[in-house]
Amino acid sequence: MNHSPLPTLPLLEAQQVSKYFGGLAAVKQVDIAIYPGEIVGLVGPNGSGKTTLFNCLSRLESINQGRIIFRGRDITNTRPYQVARMGLSRTFQKLRVYRQMTVWENMLVSHQWRGENLLTLFQSSDRKTSKRARELLELLKLSPLKNEYAGNLSGGQQRLLEIGMALMPDPEIILLDEATSGINPTLIETIKDRILLLNREYHKTFLAIEHNINFISDLCDRVYVLNQGEKLAEGTPTEIQANDAVVEAYFGT
Ligand SMILES: Nc1ncnc2c1ncn2[C@@H]1O[C@H](COP(=O)(O)OP(=O)(O)OP(=O)(O)O)[C@@H](O)[C@H]1O
Ligand SMILES: [Mg+2]
Repeated sequence: MNHSPLPTLPLLEAQQVSKYFGGLAAVKQVDIAIYPGEIVGLVGPNGSGKTTLFNCLSRLESINQGRIIFRGRDITNTRPYQVARMGLSRTFQKLRVYRQMTVWENMLVSHQWRGENLLTLFQSSDRKTSKRARELLELLKLSPLKNEYAGNLSGGQQRLLEIGMALMPDPEIILLDEATSGINPTLIETIKDRILLLNREYHKTFLAIEHNINFISDLCDRVYVLNQGEKLAEGTPTEIQANDAVVEAYFGT
């Protein structure tokens, strides 16, 4: 765990953010702040607004109230691709790899596809991009699968690939939406181990939606808990697990 004192400026912040779908407040006046170098967990029962908050943070959804601040800049009205260029990457709860492309092609496409002919893209990929893709596949232990179609990979390997794709632009923060869901325990350990390495050695900051309690306990410095769109609690993993309101939100009375 990272016990160094928190620097004063958050890297990413939601201030009083609300998002409505019709009459439903999917996210209600939520404040969160992620500091550089942290691994922060975002937990809560199904439908509590976690993915919606991610969509607001990465600007895929407009918000009804509040502000999003990234690297000291108000990005409330910034386009998603600009936010990505500023150094915010994310993965998706429902996997978004290109199943009919190889692992290698997925890595290149994620980085620079602007809708041009794919063959041209692969032929013209510059040395720096190829080098980065190679290094990331090595780091994620996916190199042996480089020429495999993504659709042939296991769910866990596809999750790792998606993390690799998110890392291609060299982001400062990566938002992970259930990176360990539905995958086998061995690969969960690999994913945890790689995230820790990326955090400690490569200074990547993470905000992770997670249902896996070991992930939360082993990796997260702090945790936010959402319930019915509202922030229910925040604290260390130990504090959160001992919080009666959190236990009740998950398991009922
Ligand atoms: N595009 C949408 N249109 C209408 N309602 C939506 C939309 N997206 C999400 N919702 C609703 O907003 C609420 C929060 O959903 P969200 O997907 O953010 O929850 P979650 O915490 O990610 O849940 P899960 O753990 O199941 O992934 C739910 O009631 C959901 O039905
Ligand atoms: Mg979700």
